[in-house]
Amino acid sequence: MKTYCVIGNPVAHSQSPRIHTLFAEQTGRAVTYTREALDLKTFETDIAELFSDGLHGCNVTVPFKERALNVCAHLSERAQEAQAANTLIREADGRLRGDNTDGVGLARDLTHNHGVTLSGARILIAGAGGAARGIVRPLLDASPEAVVISNRTPSKADDLATAFAAAGPVSSLAYDALPAQPFDVLINATSTSLSGAVPPIPDHCLGADSVLYDLMYAKTPTAYLRWGQDAGASRLIDGIGMLVEQAAESFYLWEGVRPDTAPVIEALSQI
Ligand code: ATR
Repeated sequence: MKTYCVIGNPVAHSQSPRIHTLFAEQTGRAVTYTREALDLKTFETDIAELFSDGLHGCNVTVPFKERALNVCAHLSERAQEAQAANTLIREADGRLRGDNTDGVGLARDLTHNHGVTLSGARILIAGAGGAARGIVRPLLDASPEAVVISNRTPSKADDLATAFAAAGPVSSLAYDALPAQPFDVLINATSTSLSGAVPPIPDHCLGADSVLYDLMYAKTPTAYLRWGQDAGASRLIDGIGMLVEQAAESFYLWEGVRPDTAPVIEALSQI
């Protein structure tokens, strides 16, 4: 039996054990997957202890994704670029490799599950924190016409656009400077949905065919998706598919088999 877990604080709400248990059943892998709430003061030593006690790998969630880099001997390119790791893998010599599957999870959910064409698309990212940083590269890899980053603190959007400038057509604009031309895809990568707030994207950025995507998910539509609906958008997507897709990529990194995500997304949507 191989053991995995999700590490965060708080972590009681995490759907990851349910998702990975469904993956294990589906693929016939002998895997157990639990939750571990680690102390903010002792995160690094606690992780080392879990792995020396036999843990095979883990997911890392808020607030530890950035600190997880400190415990890794190696990092994938996508973890380096995101400056965060959401997946730790124990290598044969016992050392840890950090990876980040969040961005690829988003791109896969948009393109495979929702049939959204990113190639040639004009994409707006609202937010410039950790969640936004993790999705810029996979979006640029899909050959969009433009990725524009807007943030409440504009200098952070400028810094993020500059960091990825060599990877594709990414720029930054203040929310109130966004042009009156609808974006094809508008992604909420702010933490506003946690507080029921909405990023101040002008309504003129939204058209009837725009796709609104919230990286967050909740039992009822987030304030961001409700705003989109009220403003006339019809394609509204929350982050449940991304959650399952990033998990599938982690499972693949650990177990070498790619689970079918559709039945798991379906099962989670019914909670
Ligand atoms: P995460 O890891 O979830 O990205 P983070 O790094 O703290 O968390 O980033 C939170 C993001 O949400 C930031 O872009 C933040 O904007 P600031 O950089 O200006 O703080 C954004 N955010 C949070 N509350 C917001 C609000 N009420 N309106 C607009 N943006 C908000």
